[in-house]
Amino acid sequence: MVCRAPQQKARTSAMGSGVVELQRNSTNWAKAVGEIVKMERKIFPKHESLASSFAEELKKKNSGLIYVELDGEVVGYVMYSWPSSLFASIAKLAVKENYRRQGHGEALLKAAIQKCRSRKVHRISLHVDPLRTPAMSLYKKLGFQVDALIVGYYSPDRDANRMYLEFDSE
Ligand SMILES: CC(C)(COP(=O)(O)OP(=O)(O)OC[C@H]1O[C@@H](n2cnc3c(N)ncnc32)[C@H](O)[C@@H]1OP(=O)(O)O)[C@@H](O)C(=O)NCCC(=O)NCCS
Repeated sequence: MVCRAPQQKARTSAMGSGVVELQRNSTNWAKAVGEIVKMERKIFPKHESLASSFAEELKKKNSGLIYVELDGEVVGYVMYSWPSSLFASIAKLAVKENYRRQGHGEALLKAAIQKCRSRKVHRISLHVDPLRTPAMSLYKKLGFQVDALIVGYYSPDRDANRMYLEFDSE
C-alpha cells in the first residue's frame, strides 16, 4: 500500500502508555495497518475477520483506529466508527496473545470510548461472541450491557451478544 503523503511526517496523537491514534496520511499508516491485518488474520476465525476489508473500512470518513505500539511493534488495536451523530460502534478489539492481561485491552477500549464521547454520540454499540469470556468481561467492566442475543450473527452456529453503552445527555 502506498502512502499518500510520503513527505509528511508521521502524525500520531499520543494517548498515553503507547496508545496512539492512526492518522490518515501518516507515513506509518501502511506499516501499522499491515501489522494489524496480520493480527486480525491470526486472532479471528474467517467469519469474524475484517482482514480482507480492513484498509477499506479505515478509509471511510467516519471510522477510526487506535493501537498500542511497544518498541515499534503493534500489540493491540481497536477499530470504531460513528455512522451517525447519535451512535457509534466498536468494530473490533484485540491484543496479541503474549501481551494480554497487562491492561492494553482496557486502555484501548477506554481510548475508543473517549473518542466516541468527543463526537457527542449518545450510545456506543458492539457485537461480541458470548463465548469470548475475556472480551465479555472487559465490556461489562467498562459499563456495556447486553441488549440482545443475535442468533446466527457470525455464522449459522455462532451467535453474538449485542451490547451497548449509553451516555447521559448533557
Ligand atoms: C478481550 C481482549 C482484547 C482483552 O485484552 P487484555 O489486554 O488482555 O485485557 P486487560 O488486561 O486490559 O484486562 C481488562 C479486563 O478484561 C477482562 N479480562 C481480560 N482477560 C480476561 C480473562 N482471561 N478472563 C476474564 N476476564 C478477562 C477483565 O475484566 C479485565 O479486568 P481485570 O484486570 O480488572 O480483571 C483480549 O483478550 C483479546 O484480544 N481477545 C481475543 C480477541 C477478542 O475476543 N476480541 C473481542 C471481540 S471483537
